[in-house]
Amino acid sequence: METILVYIASIMFKDGSEMYVCLCHGISDKKIMKLTQQHGITDVRGIRQITPLGSMCGKCIRTAKEVIEEAVLATTLKKAS
Ligand code: FES
Repeated sequence: METILVYIASIMFKDGSEMYVCLCHGISDKKIMKLTQQHGITDVRGIRQITPLGSMCGKCIRTAKEVIEEAVLATTLKKAS
């Protein structure tokens, strides 16, 4: 059930605005991206060191990994241009 709720929330909020990645702790994709870029984080372990992401049901880990990969790629492309 939790997996389905996380999936539905991911679809509902992925309209270019803010998407909640971790529903248990109210952590959004924008917050993950901001923290990733501010702290030079490159993996989920880094985000988990400064937020409680994934510490309850853990259903958010895969999506958080994708968001971090996007943020790392965006940062890399920004530096290259
Ligand atoms: S959604 Fe449950 S710990 Fe992140």
